[in-house]
Amino acid sequence: MSNNVLTIRNLSVHYRTDRGELKAMRHINLDVPKRSIVGVVGESGCGKSTLISSIIRLLATNATIPNGSIEFEDRDLLKLSENEMRAIRGVRISIVFQDPMSTLNPVLSIGRQMTDIQYRDNKSQADKVQRSVDMLESVGIPDPASRLGQFPHEFSGGMQQRISIAMALQAEPSLLIADEPTTALDATLEVQIIHLLKALQTDMGCSILFISHHLGVIAELCDYVVVMYAGEVVEEGTTRDVFHHPAHPYTERLLQCDPASIVKKSRTLPTIPGDIPDLVTLPSGCVFKNRCEHVMEQCDTTTPDWTEHSNGHFVSCHRGRT
Ligand SMILES: Nc1ncnc2c1ncn2[C@@H]1O[C@H](COP(=O)(O)OP(=O)(O)OP(=O)(O)O)[C@@H](O)[C@H]1O
Ligand SMILES: [Mg+2]
Repeated sequence: MSNNVLTIRNLSVHYRTDRGELKAMRHINLDVPKRSIVGVVGESGCGKSTLISSIIRLLATNATIPNGSIEFEDRDLLKLSENEMRAIRGVRISIVFQDPMSTLNPVLSIGRQMTDIQYRDNKSQADKVQRSVDMLESVGIPDPASRLGQFPHEFSGGMQQRISIAMALQAEPSLLIADEPTTALDATLEVQIIHLLKALQTDMGCSILFISHHLGVIAELCDYVVVMYAGEVVEEGTTRDVFHHPAHPYTERLLQCDPASIVKKSRTLPTIPGDIPDLVTLPSGCVFKNRCEHVMEQCDTTTPDWTEHSNGHFVSCHRGRT
């Protein structure tokens, strides 16, 4: 038995476009060990949503998967039928999105929605109601029994997100995917939701794949970090290793640009100069070469190998290898 709940190997996803194949994700490797929280970080367009959609097999219709495997609980999700996948989605793998209203139905009461999603369970209605109350209690909704009859709009944004977390965890999935779940919340609520996720993960013993562009949140919550750039994983390791000893120039720049790490006052936030390369006409060599301050000759011609920089800390960069 694998020590991972999720093991992605050599996974690529392309989109057919008028301009040609857009290679949104290329040869990705990613591990989510059991009972751990893995953060995925990277700027807009680097392929975070493509990654999630490929795991739950809800990719856009113009997407193709030319190669790779997604092993979840010792089965390759890419080989399952749609019916088999439906039995996993929302049950063994659940998702929390940035906007809780994308999962909550505005015209049904919270109680109705929470009992409806237990349709697979062979339990009495009273037991399903009790389970809903218990779940709402576990995510910190005060006096949940009296609020079951209320509709989503009667709750604040933070409370709505707590409810969507309760619904995602109701079936006790072994993997929770959280796609920027705190981005729409203010800083205080963000901290509360992070602490809540951590507590629930410890209690339930599940794993979390946490997508965020907010480095502070990743540092607070995650055991491991995966850094994505332009459709590739460029660095991966424990949060401590990656944040304290970044090995890829892109990770270094991300950390320098994080508002929390900027001590000197300035009018403009620092950014990484340049743009992500065009994913239809990808350049040869390293994907980061046009923005890298350490660029060398071989970066132009040769794609760097994925190598172990130190124990369990992987990077794809030519620097320090010659
Ligand atoms: N259905 C599609 N057809 C064509 N291109 C797509 C499609 N979906 C995504 N892309 C492209 O694939 C790349 C990765 O997009 P993706 O949405 O996965 O990025 P992301 O990291 O989630 O970005 P963001 O932080 O903005 O949500 C982008 O270049 C995007 O324009
Ligand atoms: Mg996205």
